[in-house]
Amino acid sequence: MGMRKNVRILLVGDRSVGKTSLILSLVSEEFNEDVPPKAEEITIPADVTPEQVPTHIVDFSAVEQTEEQLVDEIQRAHVVCVVYSVDDEDSLDHVTSHWLPLVRSSIQGTPLPVILVGNKVDLVDYSTIDMVMTIMEGYPEIESCVECSARTLKNISEMFYYAQKAVLHPTGPLYVLESQD
Ligand code: GTP
Ligand code: MG
Repeated sequence: MGMRKNVRILLVGDRSVGKTSLILSLVSEEFNEDVPPKAEEITIPADVTPEQVPTHIVDFSAVEQTEEQLVDEIQRAHVVCVVYSVDDEDSLDHVTSHWLPLVRSSIQGTPLPVILVGNKVDLVDYSTIDMVMTIMEGYPEIESCVECSARTLKNISEMFYYAQKAVLHPTGPLYVLESQD
């Protein structure tokens, strides 16, 4: 695979998990209570990204966009961040019942890398990582997982770095399997 000249990151997930807040917290380096349903598409210039590649960050809003537009955005993306909220069990259930199958069925050929993002860690004193590990066993396209908070900015830049890295330096379970024999 050749070096990409840009990276297109799409955020999906249930309503209110904090997709728009994550994007705006990254860009403004502070949490804003009042965010629109959908953030404008943002381009981060190469010189301020860890991998020195221009990075487009794309929000999804079920109130402003149709299912058809969502599928179209999935097809244009290089990596998808599937966001759930660590304080909302349903939003994590829907990762496997809805979001991961939707990403799979929207594309043909090479699987699209996925980052699993558990937002709002500021609200809880437990981790969802055990459940996430179980999910990862069934979905090798999940390159990384991260628990973060748009409110406290915890792991926000890491989340976008993992997404960039999944596109530019894909490792993943396939590589691990191949290197075993
Ligand atoms: P839709 O656009 O409806 O799909 O929602 P969304 O996923 O974009 O979520 P949004 O960013 O609008 O956030 C929903 C609510 O959660 C807002 O009230 C945010 O202020 C709040 N929120 C977002 N991130 C965090 C976080 O990390 N911690 C806490 N405590 N609240 C958050
Ligand atoms: Mg939103």
